[in-house]
Amino acid sequence: MHNLLGKDQLVCSFLVVLPFSTVVAQNNANIDVGLSLTAGDNDARWLSPSEDFAFGFHQLENGNFLLAIWYYKLTNQQTTFVWYANGENNSAPRGSKLELYSDRGLVLKDPRGTQLWSTSGEIAAGSSVFYAVMNDTGNFQLLDENSNPLWQSFEHPMDTLLPGQIMEIDGNLTSRKGENDFSSGRFVLRMLPDGNAVLNTINLPSKNSYDAYYISGTNDDANQSNRGLRVVYNTSGDLYVLRGNREREIILSEGSISTSDNYRRVTLNFDGVLTLSYHSKEPSSSWDTIAYIPDDNICEKISGEKGTGPCGYNSICSIQSNGRPSCKCPKGYSFFDPTDAFSGCKPDFLTNYCASDSPFEEYSLERIPNTDWPTSDYELITPYDQQSCQNSCLHECLCGAAIFRNNSCWKKKLPLSNGRDGLSEFMAFLKVGRNSSSKIPRPPGTTPPRDAKDQDNLVIVLSSLFGTSAFANLILVAAICSILFFNYKKNKKLLGISPRETCVESNLRQFTYKELTEATNGFKEELGRGSCGIVYKGETESSVLVAVKKLDKVFQDSHKEFKVEVNVIGQTHHKNLVRLIGYCEENQHRLLVYEFLSNGTLARFLFGDCKPSWTQRIQIAHGIARGLVYLHEECSTQIIHCDIKPQNILLDEYYNARISDFGLAKLLLLDQSHTKTNVRGTKGYVAPDWFRSAKVSVKVDVYSFGVILLEIICCRRNVDMEIGGGVRGILTDWAYDCYADGKLDALIEDDMEAMNDIKRVERFVKVAIWCLQEDPNIRPTMKKVMLMLEGIVQVSVPPSPCSFTSVN
Ligand SMILES: *[C@@H]1O[C@H](CO)[C@@H](O)[C@H](O)[C@H]1NC(C)=O
Ligand SMILES: *[C@@H]1O[C@H](CO)[C@@H](O)[C@H](O)[C@H]1NC(C)=O
Ligand SMILES: *[C@@H]1O[C@H](CO)[C@@H](O)[C@H](O)[C@H]1NC(C)=O
Ligand SMILES: *[C@@H]1O[C@H](CO)[C@@H](O)[C@H](O)[C@H]1NC(C)=O
Ligand SMILES: *[C@@H]1O[C@H](CO)[C@@H](O)[C@H](O)[C@H]1NC(C)=O
Ligand SMILES: *[C@@H]1O[C@H](CO)[C@@H](O)[C@H](O)[C@H]1NC(C)=O
Ligand SMILES: *[C@@H]1O[C@H](CO)[C@@H](O)[C@H](O)[C@H]1NC(C)=O
Repeated sequence: MHNLLGKDQLVCSFLVVLPFSTVVAQNNANIDVGLSLTAGDNDARWLSPSEDFAFGFHQLENGNFLLAIWYYKLTNQQTTFVWYANGENNSAPRGSKLELYSDRGLVLKDPRGTQLWSTSGEIAAGSSVFYAVMNDTGNFQLLDENSNPLWQSFEHPMDTLLPGQIMEIDGNLTSRKGENDFSSGRFVLRMLPDGNAVLNTINLPSKNSYDAYYISGTNDDANQSNRGLRVVYNTSGDLYVLRGNREREIILSEGSISTSDNYRRVTLNFDGVLTLSYHSKEPSSSWDTIAYIPDDNICEKISGEKGTGPCGYNSICSIQSNGRPSCKCPKGYSFFDPTDAFSGCKPDFLTNYCASDSPFEEYSLERIPNTDWPTSDYELITPYDQQSCQNSCLHECLCGAAIFRNNSCWKKKLPLSNGRDGLSEFMAFLKVGRNSSSKIPRPPGTTPPRDAKDQDNLVIVLSSLFGTSAFANLILVAAICSILFFNYKKNKKLLGISPRETCVESNLRQFTYKELTEATNGFKEELGRGSCGIVYKGETESSVLVAVKKLDKVFQDSHKEFKVEVNVIGQTHHKNLVRLIGYCEENQHRLLVYEFLSNGTLARFLFGDCKPSWTQRIQIAHGIARGLVYLHEECSTQIIHCDIKPQNILLDEYYNARISDFGLAKLLLLDQSHTKTNVRGTKGYVAPDWFRSAKVSVKVDVYSFGVILLEIICCRRNVDMEIGGGVRGILTDWAYDCYADGKLDALIEDDMEAMNDIKRVERFVKVAIWCLQEDPNIRPTMKKVMLMLEGIVQVSVPPSPCSFTSVN
């Protein structure tokens, strides 16, 4: 399936086979003593009656199996585990066996018979298990002959609580080490005997806890009978501490999410944030966080003298708008584990400063504005000025870093912990080896951090402008480029990213031009041509397929901007975005290296010969919306895409939509060589506000999304003069006419799948019309669009897109 040839055929057969493979499984039944599951067997799981939850073996990326409970119906996206038994060493090999015994309950053994895990120590002596049940609540229970539970997964939570689950005194939730590493991580939520529920960081081997970064405040010293007794996640979705006097101290509250239509969970994430999130039972949607703690800034909340902070030693933590931390290394440092951004940063140079004969030649200070490492002080000099503070650290061989603020100078030793940015009065000076300024090359074969999930699917395409007519492309490209240029002076700061200092390196790989020439076999296989360059297929020395975009030579004189923008793009990670792996900047060459996605562009998928399934198109529409929500609202620097179109949306091997070319609008601005073209009135994906002098906002992407949504519904191009001519030639116009006349069936014609789901078709068309409003202020935000698509927010009747002004 990674083969570009014959893809259409593959697409079609995939559609038939994959989405709803039916499964005959043991169901609605008690699990009797003596039954067993074998890791690697096809149906090595027991389902709850509703099939919402499965208990059994789930294969991990390393090929081994996790004994776990997961949402059985959520198969489109990454599996969400709510409980796991053998996370500690992730190591039940194929052939491991889980058996239910009456005396010991569950016993997991590897193929050689070595016991890996069991419930035996937790079942009271003398009692015997009669059967087990995978309850629809997500609780796996071992029951005695009177159906009293002897052991239940709800009483042994890992990192997740489900509605109805209770955590008694001395209970805990422990984070995992990484999104795909199920061994214990550095964070715990504990219910303490004194009545408080607290979030702590811990020292890993000893589990010794450091200062709490959240305290519920439910220890009542004045009257002990009012103390907190337990943490409850009740069935209507509130997480609270129940006190002795029955009062409730709410920790996280879910508001009004429908309980019947959504899965809900509370999870202590591997980054230390406790989140309450929901997922529509519709498999194509994904998890959304409603509430989280710490609700201000975990980077600042974790501040004790000991421990590493959320990001590990020597790193810098930034808070994202979704409350989750993101981590980066200062210049001269790189991640301990290049696949894990939370592993902390190691210096790329020798730090025995005092051993150096010529410290001034070997070390310099890197200025990092707005940043602080609050602990590890060994000296405070005040009052002092900034220049003296710098000199003092540079000249003193014990000093690893200095922080200057308000005429005071704090000198620090390594390792630095709890680093964070966004602190306007702070200036950090970090001592780095001059050697390291030209980054130590990564050993061959290692790849930069990425969601481990994606590692296997490192496949397929980046391309632009596959499959549209050359003429339409020309007009679009000219339109975008010239408009970008036209708005440049006015809007320098508005487009996404405002300039900032290049003091922080993201973990992108820097390729040499030679490496990329070899990887692409001399730029031989062209995948597509985009608005600012040609895309070639390539393969790195570690056999990873990549798409290499050779940018036109417009960036020649803008070394610094290029680096800044590329780093911004490199820090943008989301499952609905195409991942940037690295770049090359050498002489006049500017290249971007992306992961390669196997299933080509959305344009090819939608407008090919074989009509894709409606279900799959729904999933794609949701995916694009989510990617845009992330770019607009959730990544640390807002990014306006400015060029959303089906040629820029790629499909990964699971047909998830992945947006490409984001962040390039800013790069294009650097190009001043294009001349202005008269493009007024061109119909396409470009919002009308482009063509006015109006301020460019995220709403231009919302407009383009509206166009794409209609194309997804109808499987046809927006502008297609071959179709019946007249009003039908322009989809955006025709769709509104059909909607206004109550003739939606004309839009979808003989698409029976969509016809049978006409309520959703209507919802989607209404959302699209909202997106296409002339007045950008009337267009909804992408977040609202997403909620409307998912049916979580009602869609009101849209006005005519042109009712506001008369353009054209
Ligand atoms: C798995 O972990 C257990 C306890 O943590 C340990 O005794 C066992 O040796 C580990 N197994 C492997 C294969 O690492
Ligand atoms: C699931 O658990 C609920 C609450 O504990 C209980 O009422 C119900 O009978 C259980 N279902 C099964 C199938 O055991
Ligand atoms: C959490 O609870 C488990 C079992 O109750 C215990 O083994 C573990 O040490 C606890 N972890 C912490 C950090 O308290
Ligand atoms: C403690 O609180 C309980 C219930 O709120 C109350 O009945 C009791 O009188 C209180 N005791 C004291 C010593 O205040
Ligand atoms: C859950 O807790 C909230 C907050 O105390 C309360 O309003 C709600 O009624 C509770 N729901 C149930 C089912 O107990
Ligand atoms: C810089 O590189 C040289 C030669 O590789 C080495 O001897 C020296 O120790 C390095 N300096 C630092 C600060 O790492
Ligand atoms: C700056 O330092 C002075 C004297 O040490 C102090 O009075 C003042 O409050 C400080 N200002 C800030 C913003 O911390």
